[in-house]
Amino acid sequence: MPAATTAMQAWLGSRADVRERRGLLRSTEPQAGLVDLASNDYLGLSADPRVIEAATRALIEHGAGARGSRVVCGTTAAHQELEAQLRLLTGQEAALVFSSGYTANIGILTALGGPGTLMIHDAHVHASLLDGIRLSRSPSVEVAHHDVAAIAAALAGRTKPRAVVVLESIYSVLGDAADLAAVAALCASFDALLLVDEAHGIGVAGQGRGAVHAAGLAGAPHVAVTATLSKALGSQGGAVLGSAQLRDHLVNTARTFIFDTALAPAAAAAAARAAAIIRQEPELAGQVLANAAALAARCGVPAAAGAVQSIPVESAGQAAAVASALRSQGVSVGCFRPPSVPDGVSRIRLTARANISAAELEWAAATVARAVAFGPDGGPS
Ligand SMILES: Cc1ncc(COP(=O)(O)O)c(C=O)c1O
Repeated sequence: MPAATTAMQAWLGSRADVRERRGLLRSTEPQAGLVDLASNDYLGLSADPRVIEAATRALIEHGAGARGSRVVCGTTAAHQELEAQLRLLTGQEAALVFSSGYTANIGILTALGGPGTLMIHDAHVHASLLDGIRLSRSPSVEVAHHDVAAIAAALAGRTKPRAVVVLESIYSVLGDAADLAAVAALCASFDALLLVDEAHGIGVAGQGRGAVHAAGLAGAPHVAVTATLSKALGSQGGAVLGSAQLRDHLVNTARTFIFDTALAPAAAAAAARAAAIIRQEPELAGQVLANAAALAARCGVPAAAGAVQSIPVESAGQAAAVASALRSQGVSVGCFRPPSVPDGVSRIRLTARANISAAELEWAAATVARAVAFGPDGGPS
């Protein structure tokens, strides 16, 4: 006899129905064999033979897993080399590697937050930053996207002894850039810390060294950076970059650092090699930006600041239909719909890569432009 439906099963079913009706179903199907305009492998380093070779050597030397937290037995020479390479790439005094960008963001925000720290964040910041702010139990203020005056007002009116302003250097959905110089100057004058998530900046902006470095802010005592190793660096993991004092504080207090198994050594070695390549070959960052501009021009949208280009569409249903039609024509694109879009606008998100060929880019961009202009069925949309 089949078991009766539990309250949880009934609720899960009703949630799935709502998502299906709104055209918001997500899928975890592999997407092999397509022209990739969806991944974050901006420089193509995930498949670079030098990166793979470094990972293979670390796998043989250290084994498949890190076997413990960084503060127990999980730190290997691969983690130390990665932190050294990240310091060299970004020009920061210290680096601390986490198991992902998500845990790096939660780790630093909870370690800096609490009732005495006001958190001020741009409305478009990534889910991991929002989660970190919530978990920090700090009072927080959300300001409109790019609203520097609102940041100034929040800093001027603060009653807490400390404040952190949270931005992304290049935003993950729209691909637009923050005015780091203006916000850093405000933070300096109001004695606040600027925390910049460079997930989409490192490897792309500032000849690969990131937008914080390009703005002359690397090493500034009032600026800290978080990064993922899973985008331009082609690997897995995350990091906080800043002062040695900040690193020391995080090693001793960041819960997602202390109570989490260290990043797998092979991923650390891969990211270390990728960081060295980005530093030694700044032309890679130039190439991804040139390809991003070409992609935007062919698709009729203004070029964004980084590798991500965003094409707004009418509805979540249209975004899903266009992405699915493109998949069947051999192109993989990002399909961003509420609640993953900070402005509520559904969009097709294209990511450029340094290693896409000119012919592939032309064909894929033309295919995308047609699907967006004429609808997924080829008729006028
Ligand atoms: C802006 C931003 N921050 C953080 C993350 C999380 O990084 P990770 O995938 O390494 O957890 C992402 C990834 O999607 C991101 O786009």
